[in-house]
Amino acid sequence: MDEVKKGLEGVVVDESRVCKVDGEEGKIWYAGYDMDDLARYSSYEELLFLLWNDRLPSADELDEIRGEMQERRSLPDGVADLIDREAARTGPMDLLRTSVSALASYDDTPNDLDDPTDRSLGVIAKMPTIIARAHRARQGDDPVEPRDDLGHAENFLYTLHGEEPTAEEASAMDSTFILYAEHGMNASTFSACVTASTLANVYSSLTSAVGTLQGPLHGGATETVIEMLEEVGDPSRASEYVEEKVSNKEKIPGFGHRVYETVDPRCAHFKRHIEELNPDSELLAVADAVREEVEVRLGDKGIWPNTDLYAGALYRELGVPTPFYTTLFSASRAAGWSAHVAEQLDDNRIMRPRVKFVGETGREYVPVDER
Ligand SMILES: CC(C)(COP(=O)(O)OP(=O)(O)OC[C@H]1O[C@@H](n2cnc3c(N)ncnc32)[C@H](O)[C@@H]1OP(=O)(O)O)[C@@H](O)C(=O)NCCC(=O)NCCS
Repeated sequence: MDEVKKGLEGVVVDESRVCKVDGEEGKIWYAGYDMDDLARYSSYEELLFLLWNDRLPSADELDEIRGEMQERRSLPDGVADLIDREAARTGPMDLLRTSVSALASYDDTPNDLDDPTDRSLGVIAKMPTIIARAHRARQGDDPVEPRDDLGHAENFLYTLHGEEPTAEEASAMDSTFILYAEHGMNASTFSACVTASTLANVYSSLTSAVGTLQGPLHGGATETVIEMLEEVGDPSRASEYVEEKVSNKEKIPGFGHRVYETVDPRCAHFKRHIEELNPDSELLAVADAVREEVEVRLGDKGIWPNTDLYAGALYRELGVPTPFYTTLFSASRAAGWSAHVAEQLDDNRIMRPRVKFVGETGREYVPVDER
């Protein structure tokens, strides 16, 4: 009864139809569909519909969700002002978290839980606008307003750079949104569900999730991986780097996972897009060299590459500045957060685990002047 499951390992917290992560086979099923197919042929908007409705949309339904996303991309003036004012001194993830939270102020009925995915849609539509605006404000550049004729991923690159991306860039960006969209009961999704389970509003649930994704053991790894690849610098240094890390018993960013017993299936898609955009990517060459070394030295321990090993190198090709990588992961994962929050609210019971108390009882209180 009092067995402690550190890190909640192996604890099954609820039932879900959103996603199956098959760690043994290295497969991800989004609402029953193979992630590999969705990453190649679908769009983020279609995936949102799928995760929220447990079925693919008709052509009309897809048009409808695209239209709603377009309509709700622009930021309320108060949030735009907040970003412009704070961007220079606030880390991108802190600013994203604060901005998501601030959106509640511009909803007349933020506590209405009748249609949680619709509320989430309003936030998800705006997250890329927040990120692009924050980057431009940090650079001292004027914001670029979203355009109605561009899709979600395309619009992000347009508002970030102020020019339309190529078809290849737009497709790679859309793919990153899909690849990071959902991954079962990971830490940030659990955080969103814990908050939702108290019947707090959707803004609170999504804000909790952004905060949880920030850490380097979770979404923050996209940034620490790039620091690692830059530190290694050249494929010829990979062996020396890995050897040093292994002998110091230090973790190597971009490797290891609680669920996978093989390579994370998303790695191949990130790699494919990097190769399409820049076959000579130096970061990719270093990442592959580190991967080979890790497989030799830690493969028998079950330490495999995770998706973050390649994600940063692709973001680099798309011109996303490194401090913004985790914000993009958040903007993508908001799909999964919102789907799980909706499931949680649909059949809710407040989350309330226990802790095994190992302290003392019966200690006698002594007033401060007698201690
Ligand atoms: C993802 C992660 C947090 C999973 O953590 P976890 O399930 O709690 O696993 P643990 O940290 O307990 O690791 C289990 C063992 O594998 C080792 N290990 C795990 N990840 C490792 C890595 N990246 N490099 C080297 N060794 C690693 C640990 O040192 C530990 O070894 P030990 O049993 O000899 O002490 C962990 O693998 C990690 O920190 N990876 C690096 C950060 C990262 O890439 N995060 C993004 C995840 S998508």
